[in-house]
Amino acid sequence: MNRKAGSSDSIFFRRHSKRSYLDKNIPDEALARVLEKVRWSPSCSNNQPWRLVLVRDPDRRAELMKALARGNQWAGRAPLLVVVCARREDDYVREDDPVEYHQFDCGLATMSLLLAAAEEGLMSHPMAGYSASDVKSCLGIAPASHVLCVVAVGYEGPPELLDDKTRAKDTAPRTRKALSDIVVWDSFDSR
Ligand SMILES: Cc1cc2nc3c(=O)[nH]c(=O)nc-3n(C[C@H](O)[C@H](O)[C@H](O)COP(=O)(O)O)c2cc1C
Repeated sequence: MNRKAGSSDSIFFRRHSKRSYLDKNIPDEALARVLEKVRWSPSCSNNQPWRLVLVRDPDRRAELMKALARGNQWAGRAPLLVVVCARREDDYVREDDPVEYHQFDCGLATMSLLLAAAEEGLMSHPMAGYSASDVKSCLGIAPASHVLCVVAVGYEGPPELLDDKTRAKDTAPRTRKALSDIVVWDSFDSR
């Protein structure tokens, strides 16, 4: 199914990860609605392993930004940084395949966050570009926890707010693999 076949109004298509944020705070009620949707994310055996550290205080945000990669410094303009973390011991670990469901479930909760934010007219941008140990020490996250991602959340601003290199990333066309590259019918042998 291509994009035209779906509803272009759908938050699945409206959600995107750009990098320009307005200097505008998120109303508490909007944030509460987003977090309630995250809370109702599915998880393996309903383990709900995710823990979210909401970093809104400007001084603490500035500290946290030091743990983010140079290429992610645009996130310093977002009024909220959400750090998604979880402990391996709080979820199922497969024995027949090395799958750790605390990571999988945090992915589900993060998608809830991204889509719920889009529903509120907010833009969220997940990031893996950070020093996990620096994020943990900045926020008092136990060493045994995994930091799965940091999500910038706020209102989207114009590309003009960005430096040239970052603006080039944001104005590049968004792409995806063809459906035939990611879906097979009935078995991999059918390729
Ligand atoms: C786990 C994860 C880590 C990511 N890390 C970064 C990052 O460190 N910096 C960045 O600019 N974007 C990051 N992204 C955003 C992706 O580049 C983006 O989702 C992808 O290019 C698709 O674009 P879209 O979200 O607009 O559909 C990350 C996304 C995910 C899901």
